[in-house]
Amino acid sequence: SKLLLVDVDCGVDDAQALMMALAVPDVKILGITCVHGNTSLDNICKNVLRVLKVCNRLEIPVYRGLARPLLQEPLTPSDFHGKDGLGDAPDPDAPGLELLQKEGAVEAMIRIAKENEGQVCLVATAPLTNLASAVKLDPSFPKRLKGLYIMGGNMEARGNSTVCGEFNFAADPEAAYIVLNEYLCPTYIATWEFTCYHNLSWEFCSEWMNQDTDKARFMKKIFAHSIKHSEGNESENEMLAISGFISCDSYAMAAALDHSFVTQACKCAVSVELSGNLTRGMMVVDDTGMLKKEHKVTIMRKCDLEKFKKLMMAALE
Ligand code: BDR
Ligand code: CA
Repeated sequence: SKLLLVDVDCGVDDAQALMMALAVPDVKILGITCVHGNTSLDNICKNVLRVLKVCNRLEIPVYRGLARPLLQEPLTPSDFHGKDGLGDAPDPDAPGLELLQKEGAVEAMIRIAKENEGQVCLVATAPLTNLASAVKLDPSFPKRLKGLYIMGGNMEARGNSTVCGEFNFAADPEAAYIVLNEYLCPTYIATWEFTCYHNLSWEFCSEWMNQDTDKARFMKKIFAHSIKHSEGNESENEMLAISGFISCDSYAMAAALDHSFVTQACKCAVSVELSGNLTRGMMVVDDTGMLKKEHKVTIMRKCDLEKFKKLMMAALE
């Protein structure tokens, strides 16, 4: 079976991505590591436990990671995920934080990769602080991975949390820089634009959430806030095409789950801007090889939306 480690800042799309993976029969999630991002680290850990509870999978170990970016002050997360990260629709019977593992996230990632040398795919749907720390603690960590799947960064100079920065990169630019420069393993990136260009319709979203299952009812509850938020925020600029149902983190997950999901990609060296008044945190794509970096990452360009919809539907079945 496919072995996964998933690093999340459990907002609603992280939850959607996790539920997608949990629904695939031959996939084994060896651990879920939590990191700062969409809300406080405590909320993020709680949210993961809530997702595992509704999927009846509380046996999967959950680890607490870094609560702050490496260097900069935390970005204020957008209201998209609600204050608690899951649409401010609390569950009074949510599992408590005592269910978290005692071992820290970074140590766990390193250990799990060692125990399963060359077999683990790491899916990162959050600021890359845990990943950056792992490679600093153990430089051999990345080469023990089978692959790294990241939701983050951008191809064009358009951001979603700063003018030019996508949230996961802009929330910890130094961490993104370290990961893109020191993870010399096969790396696949679902950028912000990629997810926007492959949005799903709200009709699909309602068919998806209205399935007659506990998982779908849970999703409907935690996603209502984001849907409301999106209604007021759809871009009127056609070029930006930010509209419809965009479950960002689910694209990186889909790529990890099914290689044939990505139908077109380009291989480029990439980096991250660390200074710049407007561009800090922006991904830099070295299309022409001027950075003279040997390591190239795979940037997703097109995907099989029918496959994606099937994975999405199955997540709530
Ligand atoms: C990313 O930012 C977060 O808010 C989402 O969970 C996703 O990982 C999109 O830019
Ligand atoms: Ca996320």
